[in-house]
Amino acid sequence: MVLIPTLPGARMSQRTVLITGGAGYIGSHCAQTLQAAGIETVVYDDLSTGYRAAVDCEFVEGDIRDRDKLTKVLRSRPFDGVLHFAAKLLVGESVTHPLRYYDTNVAGTTSLLQAMKAADVGVLVFSSTCAIYGNPDYLPLDEDHPTRPVSPYGVSKLMVEQILDACREREDFKITSLRYFNAAGADPTGKLGESHDPETHLIPLALNAAKRGDSLRVFGRDYPTPDGTCVRDYIHVSDLAEAHRAAIETMWAGAPGRAYNCGTGKGASVLEVLDAVERVTGLPLKRIDASRRDGDPAGLYAKADRLRADLNWTPKYEEIDAIVETAWQWAQAPRY
Ligand code: UFG
Repeated sequence: MVLIPTLPGARMSQRTVLITGGAGYIGSHCAQTLQAAGIETVVYDDLSTGYRAAVDCEFVEGDIRDRDKLTKVLRSRPFDGVLHFAAKLLVGESVTHPLRYYDTNVAGTTSLLQAMKAADVGVLVFSSTCAIYGNPDYLPLDEDHPTRPVSPYGVSKLMVEQILDACREREDFKITSLRYFNAAGADPTGKLGESHDPETHLIPLALNAAKRGDSLRVFGRDYPTPDGTCVRDYIHVSDLAEAHRAAIETMWAGAPGRAYNCGTGKGASVLEVLDAVERVTGLPLKRIDASRRDGDPAGLYAKADRLRADLNWTPKYEEIDAIVETAWQWAQAPRY
């Protein structure tokens, strides 16, 4: 018999985490990262935009607004925490149908919090967004920048953060909100990737345009930026997943949780991304000048020092070419 020594106070049993929206782009990558760290995952997703094929663990089909179902799932075994991705996320649609956004994103989250309380699960990581800041007063954006979202999508995420702050202070939850900048790229093994329908994001649109020989519209070339196009902070989805793992483990170690910007801190313009797409694919990409897209700020990039310092996080993918490379692998052979 082999005796495995354990540290005093070390937890013997494996941690288990519920992942709402775990069949989606970022949620599925997080599930994979947690599993690789020896954490058991259960995915809860209504498959309205996610893919069953993106889930490689126990799966429950359900809506986050179904509090009874969530409570049952959370009581079915001892859960150590929840990663909450399930949400609606199209900025344009949120302007046309705001109620859908408040219902799914805000009411859906209070339903989850009530279910967590009923099941005595007290640790949560929430997917928030840099859209809560609105048009920046200064760059890079730190976490103390004023929050003035310009779309119902951004407002819904800010409302949730405010609810979560109250729950952290008064309801005995440990909660971390991760404010994503532009999530991009794909799992380098090719198992998971970004497949949205409709696709609105620059990198997958540009890769598909290059592949098919179509043109890509550049939304605005008259912004006050070095090359006139919008600057964004692209963060690789696997690096983002590592931030979630670090966030939940830090709370398990006793931290109360807080809000963090998730970006690399480096901006890339639309034209820089398109140049990277040409370099990586080796294909020419036709560009068409188009008018500005409503609601696009000229520049959005993060001061992500808090994430690096508190959660000991460093991105593996810092160069835009490296991010585009993994997205290209996926675009050539998407599994779903
Ligand atoms: N863009 C183009 N052509 C396209 C698509 C995009 O020029 O065909 C430009 C956009 O105008 C923008 C940049 O590429 O300047 C990036 O656009 P994305 O749609 O890829 O990403 P966004 O910055 O608009 O969106 C991100 C997140 C959203 C979040 C938003 C907050 O994906 O979830 O930031 O501003 F709400």
